[in-house]
Amino acid sequence: MQQRMKIIISPDPILRRTCEPVASEELPQMAKLAKKMARLMYKSDGCGLAAPQVGVTKQLIVLDTVLPEEGEERVQNPIIILNPRIVELGSTTESGGEGCLSIPGITIDIERPTSVTVEALDLEGNEIEISAEGFDARALQHEIDHLEGITMFEHLDPITCATKLQEFAEAKASGARPGDTSVGKAKDDGAAQREGDAGAQAKASSKTKPRGSAKARPKASSASLTGS
Ligand code: NI
Repeated sequence: MQQRMKIIISPDPILRRTCEPVASEELPQMAKLAKKMARLMYKSDGCGLAAPQVGVTKQLIVLDTVLPEEGEERVQNPIIILNPRIVELGSTTESGGEGCLSIPGITIDIERPTSVTVEALDLEGNEIEISAEGFDARALQHEIDHLEGITMFEHLDPITCATKLQEFAEAKASGARPGDTSVGKAKDDGAAQREGDAGAQAKASSKTKPRGSAKARPKASSASLTGS
């Protein structure tokens, strides 16, 4: 009865839909969904995954931007974020390469504020606040975009967008799969090659802290995000 979960690839229209907030009676169901999404995210070497990327238009994000040191196993400690709302964006912006599990095979430079504060709910329905900088802030913004039906392409000017769509078409034709960020190209940055969703290193678990915790730790701020 249950279908195997898989990552939806652009340009599926579901990726452009605005997601519904999670209601309190849906929390148990969201917990099950988040668990499966986390499994899929790690399997795809992603840093984040939003519910619409698996076909569910609910405001749910799974995030883990803590990447292992070279040669080490990745520690799995995902942060689950429900109904996120950006309450503050930093005044400085930075351009950085991002990958997306739904747009495999390419990376795209996107300009974003370097810090962000988000209010959200955890899986128990508790209110949490997450402050993130650098790579974490980028990842968080990338995932929240997904909940609003915004993919990386929507950040681009028409000419760059056309170029990237062409590059993406070629990557898909070459067999790019979720987690790939540079099909047919030399990998120039280890962290940048991990797809998943934006790379944010949210270190603390959101459920262990009430409002004000879950502070995302900026790590490798120069790393690009792979797959989100
Ligand atoms: Ni993404």
